[in-house]
Amino acid sequence: MAEPRNRYSTVSLVLHWLIAALVVAQVALIAAHDATEGPLSREFVNLHKSVGLGILVLTLGRLGWRSANPAIPLPPQTPRWQKLVARGTHVLFYVFLIAMPLVGWAASSAAGRDIVWLGLFEWPLLPVGGGRETAGRLMDLHELAAKGLYVLIFLHVVGALKHHVVDRDNVLHRMIPLIPRRP
Ligand code: HEM
Ligand code: HEM
Repeated sequence: MAEPRNRYSTVSLVLHWLIAALVVAQVALIAAHDATEGPLSREFVNLHKSVGLGILVLTLGRLGWRSANPAIPLPPQTPRWQKLVARGTHVLFYVFLIAMPLVGWAASSAAGRDIVWLGLFEWPLLPVGGGRETAGRLMDLHELAAKGLYVLIFLHVVGALKHHVVDRDNVLHRMIPLIPRRP
């Protein structure tokens, strides 16, 4: 049997950490929006929309890359239930990182709010009608999804740290190659 790979490819690493940083930025941008008023506050939401649509494109690209470069299996001694939770968390991450931008995009479209991507070009709106009422319902869904995403991030980070601190295996090393590999 071939040796399992020691670390993810550079493209996988860049996409993982870039998307993770952008997700954190998304939450920070909303916090900045909540803490400010007027045109500046609106700019934070505009940036949130552009970054969110960027996450959508990067996540689709990441799935394409992943189909040609599959994930590395977890160490064989990992209990089956932990493998299932890890896999479920990863699948749900992909679902959320696609669904959340789509729902936000649909809400902006329903409200008839133009999206100018990073101030550079007009992002097309989706054919969603219903006006502000539909936009409001979609935003409720967006908020609920944000709570789900926080749960996923929590489970994911606790799992990654558990591999490193308790199991003392190389799972964190392969996503953070700067961490020395254990024998
Ligand atoms: C918002 C933040 C994050 C998101 C959205 C995210 C998402 C993901 C996804 C989707 C995968 C699965 C890759 C695949 O199989 O295609 C993954 C793997 C991984 N992530 Fe994250 N991640 C985040 C933050 C973190 C952090 C902070 C850590 C470290 C503490 C981390 C450590 C890892 C590790 C070690 C793996 C590889 C797991 C394995 O090989 O089975 N991630 N991440
Ligand atoms: C993965 C991408 C995204 C993430 C992680 C994300 C996350 C969030 C979070 C955490 C909130 C705050 C929810 C709350 O109030 O509890 C929020 C609000 C919002 N999001 Fe997103 N979002 C994403 C993509 C988008 C996109 C693509 C759009 C629109 C094109 C969008 C539009 C909005 C709007 C309009 C709000 C409400 C701002 C306000 O309070 O007025 N989001 N988002």
